[in-house]
Amino acid sequence: EAFDLVIHGGTLATASDVFPADIGVRDGRIVQIGENLLGAARTIDATGRYVLPGGIDSHVHLAQPSGEGIVMADDFESGTRSALVGGNTTVLPFCLQEKGQSLREALTRYHALAEGCCYTDVSFHLIVSDPTPSVLGQELPALVADGYTSFKVFMTYEDLRLNDAEILDTMEVARRTGALVMVHCENEDAIRYLINRHEAEGNVAPRAHATSRPVAAEREATHRALSLAEIVDVPVVIVHVSNGAAMAEIARARSRGRPIVGETCPQYLMLTAADLDGMDWEGAKFVCSPPPRTEAEQEACWRGIETGVFDLFSSDHCPFRYDDPAGKLNPKGRQSFRHIPNGIPGVEVRLPILFSEGVMKGRIDLPRFVALTATNHAKVYGLERKGRLAVGMDADIAIWDPNERRTIRHADLHDGADYSPYEGIHVQGWPTTVILGGEVMVEGGRLVAPAPAGRYRSRSLSALARR
Ligand code: URP
Ligand code: ZN
Ligand code: ZN
Ligand code: ZN
Repeated sequence: EAFDLVIHGGTLATASDVFPADIGVRDGRIVQIGENLLGAARTIDATGRYVLPGGIDSHVHLAQPSGEGIVMADDFESGTRSALVGGNTTVLPFCLQEKGQSLREALTRYHALAEGCCYTDVSFHLIVSDPTPSVLGQELPALVADGYTSFKVFMTYEDLRLNDAEILDTMEVARRTGALVMVHCENEDAIRYLINRHEAEGNVAPRAHATSRPVAAEREATHRALSLAEIVDVPVVIVHVSNGAAMAEIARARSRGRPIVGETCPQYLMLTAADLDGMDWEGAKFVCSPPPRTEAEQEACWRGIETGVFDLFSSDHCPFRYDDPAGKLNPKGRQSFRHIPNGIPGVEVRLPILFSEGVMKGRIDLPRFVALTATNHAKVYGLERKGRLAVGMDADIAIWDPNERRTIRHADLHDGADYSPYEGIHVQGWPTTVILGGEVMVEGGRLVAPAPAGRYRSRSLSALARR
């Protein structure tokens, strides 16, 4: 046979076009795109469905240690299984350097956890929390050369935050090596002040998490991160942007010619700070940072998706169980919002939410959907054989049924949490078939993968850094 697999009769969508064609796959790659491809060991009828590149979720937290007694709800197996069923074929989790740890030690841990357990392909961003001279001088440059071409720095969280001098030094390594820096922009000192004030006033319920992390704290840190990147002269990714004021900082810096990528996430389109209210500490289910804002800010984020302020739409999947002493309702977390672990699950519903709310409701077209969920992630993070339907690319493909209607229920999802922040939301459109490296892994919306077949992928330099 000419092909191992032919996907017949579907409507293909790339970041630029929508057109009817067949796809021929051999040895895990796309080898032909054309009309009436014949001679395949297996043929999938995609009539009436959209054939898209598999989703790439470039912002995912799996198996990350997060403070005493707190356990993340997903390991690599459950997290990538959930991602796959949600239409993704590649995820980029973080490798967290803990204080005192070398980056190599951290990577050894994460590679061991991921080995043989992943249902999607994976690659790691490094989180630099301890930028010692040897980390910056030796380790990081060597790791960039080894294909770890992006790292995240935090301006908030006591255990993770870098000061401005450390951020500048880390950005300098990126400038020299061509790596890409991602920045979590929130002003830690301002937040600390507000947390202390809220606690002193006895204001300790989950809702106070949102008021202690106001737009001004994100806007200021975004402005500062962009200024530091301009001073060093490096591109940056501003991750999980939640509001219009932070978007305006990105737009202003771009108008000065700065190479900047903006990312937003489902929580900033679908949730508000009011969700952190609720009986019996239920608001803890929505505690993430930056917090969800207002309906006006949701609209601002939609404008950013439509107009191009955002190039990336990621989940920031960071799951903790709710009703669990190792999760949201840990003993201290029941006492004060300060101790509720930050982060919410979303890797399985990221794509259906944007497809339904964005494409089906006419806010964005299919090429924009593909760019925001796959193609741009591959370009920004140096995944050269991913994110596109083209000859030579990995045969990582999601086939979407635009007529499939679902109500999001956590009971139907595949992650390790015990709730979904999107419970009860109606969506139209679902990735009913998912193909990884030419192998059908999800069929009729059900996992059929015989075993976790995802592989670790090292990455090239970002298209931005290579300029
Ligand atoms: O609350 C969040 N987003 N937790 C995940 C860690 C991060 O800052 O991305
Ligand atoms: Zn055909
Ligand atoms: Zn972050
Ligand atoms: Zn995150």
